[in-house]
Amino acid sequence: MIMVSPDKAPMSLLQLLLLLLPPLLLLASASGGAELTPPPGADAPWPDQYHAVIITNLTASGGRLRQIDIYYDWPRGRALNVVRDQLSPAGAPPLVNVQWSNGANFIFDAASCDTIQFPVGLLPPDWKTTSGAAYLGRRRLDGFDCHVWSNFIFARYYEDVATGYPVAWDGVNGVQHVLSFEVGGVMQDCSKWQAPAFCFNGGGSAGGPASD
Ligand SMILES: *[C@@H]1O[C@H](CO)[C@@H](O)[C@H](O)[C@H]1NC(C)=O
Repeated sequence: MIMVSPDKAPMSLLQLLLLLLPPLLLLASASGGAELTPPPGADAPWPDQYHAVIITNLTASGGRLRQIDIYYDWPRGRALNVVRDQLSPAGAPPLVNVQWSNGANFIFDAASCDTIQFPVGLLPPDWKTTSGAAYLGRRRLDGFDCHVWSNFIFARYYEDVATGYPVAWDGVNGVQHVLSFEVGGVMQDCSKWQAPAFCFNGGGSAGGPASD
């Protein structure tokens, strides 16, 4: 179990899930801003595959600074999120969330697993033109000149005008900042995508070995 705060009861995986990534947010506030016509190129799709490193600050809600490695793999219909909190014990297994494009989610660590079915699966690479997203114009964030978007998952999504890389997005947990963005970055280790057997024997905590 990942200790979010040593002086409080550890959060359940489900609670941790709710602190996770924008693709998991069921609802974010609607655009709330004037919808504009995106300039040419601003609605370019995401790469089909990427590896991004995200940093977010959950201390205001009892969490930690958190680093999330995202491996987005649209051709294979999945995304992997590897979550590590600041100064988590050396060698401690990270919290892992595997998302499938049909909305199935497995959130697990070494001992526990939650499976959650969301009505919406992965965002497709062309979500800016297919998900009812609103273009909200340009704004500076983290020192970058950004195109700003909003959709049902992102209250705000900021993309660097110069490179087209995401800079940050904003959800219920505040702003998640993109530290690195590697186009085509793929997690090759197949075992990392495999939810542990104890995810499939009724969910919840690990009871014992499961058949699979
Ligand atoms: C994280 O958020 C807390 C509370 O809002 C703030 O005091 C702290 O400076 C932030 N840390 C970083 C690294 O931004």
